[in-house]
Amino acid sequence: MKNSILTCSIILTFLGCSNNKKSDSMIDTKTEAINEKVDSLLSKMTIEEKVGQMNQYNGFWDVTGPSPKDGSAKTKYEHLRKGWVGSMLNVRGTENVKEVQRIAVEETRLGIPLIIGFDVIHGYKTLAPIPLAEAASWDLEVIEKSARVAATEAAASGINWTFAPMVDISRDPRWGRVMEGAGEDPYLGSKIAKARVKGFQGNDLSDDTTIAACAKHFAAYGFSEAGKEYNTVDIGTSTLHNMVLPPFKAAVEAGVKTFMNSFNELNGVPVTGSSFLQRDILKGKWGFDGFVVSDWASINEMISWGHAKDKKEAAKIAATAGSDMDMEGYVYVEELANLVKNGIVKEAILDDAVRRILTVKFELGLFDAPYKYCNEENEKNNIGNKEHHDAVLDVAKKSIVLLKNENKILPLKKKGQKIVLIGDLADDKNSPLGSWRLGSDDNTAVSILEGMKKYSENNLIFKKGVELTKDPVSFTSEININTTDESGIDEAVKAAKSADVIVMVLGEHSFQSGEGRSRTEIGLPGLQQKLLESVYNANKNIVLVLTNGRPLTIEWADKNIPAIVEGWQLGSQTGNAIAQVLYGDYNPSGKLPMTFPRNIGQIPIYYNYKNTGRPNRESHVFWSHYIDSPNTPLYPFGYGLSYTTFKYDNLKVHNGENFSTEDTIKISVTITNTGDYDGKEVAQLYIRDLVGSITRPVRELKGFEMVALKKGESKEIVFNLTKKELGFYNSDGNYVIEAGDFEVYVGGNSATKIQGKFTLN
Ligand code: NOJ
Repeated sequence: MKNSILTCSIILTFLGCSNNKKSDSMIDTKTEAINEKVDSLLSKMTIEEKVGQMNQYNGFWDVTGPSPKDGSAKTKYEHLRKGWVGSMLNVRGTENVKEVQRIAVEETRLGIPLIIGFDVIHGYKTLAPIPLAEAASWDLEVIEKSARVAATEAAASGINWTFAPMVDISRDPRWGRVMEGAGEDPYLGSKIAKARVKGFQGNDLSDDTTIAACAKHFAAYGFSEAGKEYNTVDIGTSTLHNMVLPPFKAAVEAGVKTFMNSFNELNGVPVTGSSFLQRDILKGKWGFDGFVVSDWASINEMISWGHAKDKKEAAKIAATAGSDMDMEGYVYVEELANLVKNGIVKEAILDDAVRRILTVKFELGLFDAPYKYCNEENEKNNIGNKEHHDAVLDVAKKSIVLLKNENKILPLKKKGQKIVLIGDLADDKNSPLGSWRLGSDDNTAVSILEGMKKYSENNLIFKKGVELTKDPVSFTSEININTTDESGIDEAVKAAKSADVIVMVLGEHSFQSGEGRSRTEIGLPGLQQKLLESVYNANKNIVLVLTNGRPLTIEWADKNIPAIVEGWQLGSQTGNAIAQVLYGDYNPSGKLPMTFPRNIGQIPIYYNYKNTGRPNRESHVFWSHYIDSPNTPLYPFGYGLSYTTFKYDNLKVHNGENFSTEDTIKISVTITNTGDYDGKEVAQLYIRDLVGSITRPVRELKGFEMVALKKGESKEIVFNLTKKELGFYNSDGNYVIEAGDFEVYVGGNSATKIQGKFTLN
């Protein structure tokens, strides 16, 4: 066995071979046994069967990409029987999965089981908040738990591989897919990537409640120009290495089993065909030994990009670059075997890809028990149970961010208040589910109206104001919030006049964000701004609850409305979570994972920007600014209020004078709950490296801690900084730590002014 590993290492060093980073002594018995089985199976496979493992087909029910012309069910079944399919996506339910798995296992020559993929993005049937919202909890434990619930339910439905977590960093809220990620920061994004991978995969991939995770979209998809979907990406090496790649690397460190590449190009090369990303960095430098699946037909799309002249060339480029599996593109299955037979693509490339794919299948335990995810009892008991609903409610309430609370209008009283609830989104059981929820049933969320009724004895009056145009078809890109019919506004205004408090639920419909939903205006869609202003003119005592999949531009609301709650799309338990926060059963603790701009013109706007050569206003106009807008955002990254208040003081930098890269520097601060409620605060630590061979951001998040404080209570918290936090990637992608002066900031958001300093020798 040693010999065969060695041979593989020699032949495939240039490919970034799996195992190439592992010494013999590190290969444990289990891995060794799997390697042996993989080698033995591989030696029996024909070229066509190898290509088959690299071919993934969409199932016959759900569609999550453009339907290819030649994708008939007949062809797919024929290919399945021939052993030309290694994986299927969008097949779910034990019965359906069993059917395709049975063909693969019982009717093909070698009986290799399929790996079944699905977009389990924020839950399967029981939905947690959209991932951006979950990130606002800054609570890694609940995020991991949420992924665990999602995995358990998906696994009970026949699925053993999720196309999640999406770890794309993005600074552009026009891009609809920001709802799927963890926001703009690579440090927070890396922590969350790890938590999600751990949640999906658990400690034992062969357990039948765990599924393989997939870090996507590799790489830089979140930097699509102008936030336009599927667009060009043109970024420098510093942004690539310091902003884009860290969460992917973190996913590898967490043991993620698969990667998905992406639709975008990066600096002129479609990433699906990028050897630099997939071979050099991912499989080479990082030693990733899982496999890479293309995004939906992204191999074919290299033809439209003008990078490959036809399918044959696309197949050659993608396989050579390290795309191991072709998702619903028909390129590998049609072209790859001939390319190998004609000596254009080396068979070693196929062997490497297939070895990676088979290894994951063995690790999942599919060879021993191909139907292990098809247990009807599990399907009945493990989906949608109370425990799962409790878990998603917990993360939902922790994801809510209080943006403004003047005159302590919140929390609301549970009785004796006349509350008028306005906005069709409040009565909606569908939008709260968010985008990417294929496994769940439409209209199953607890609506905000239902939640608010349940949690109080108030006489609640509800008015739609502006109606939603309800469109149950998930994949329409129509904007479905009424833009013309104003007839409901007067009635809402009339009701508002006599209210003690008005709660207005406004924002986006669930399919106004997500894939293919870029927007050029990110204010309140349709007539909602008009509704808000009309009600405001009648009664200013308004609590605005936003429900949305991206940061919105709400400058008018921020100026005029006394209380604003960021309620995102919180999944199945939305109404209960919002009600618990509005009525004070849960004191909000969320913090924004993405900057809220004042206006579209400020985008991209993010907290870890560079200082520029002209950062300050001098006596003239020639400094880095706009003449029609402040530079500052509406709400900075990390921002979020509580019903109580927190005071930070006594910041101390211990041993900060002569600190070397081998030391740990301790930074302590005292936090006091100075308000009237018990509460939780996410204390954040930022650094600024004052001088660098590559200019450094004005702030970089390097630590955070959730602190629970009773009313009046104080606690000292300590952050530790090591060389892991103080360096950066240079333009070659090498991590360097440079001596010099640093500033350190601690506080409740990225604009904190509480400051210390230290010097690194
Ligand atoms: C396209 C999306 O970009 C990707 O994220 C998703 O996993 C696949 N389709 C499969 O649905």
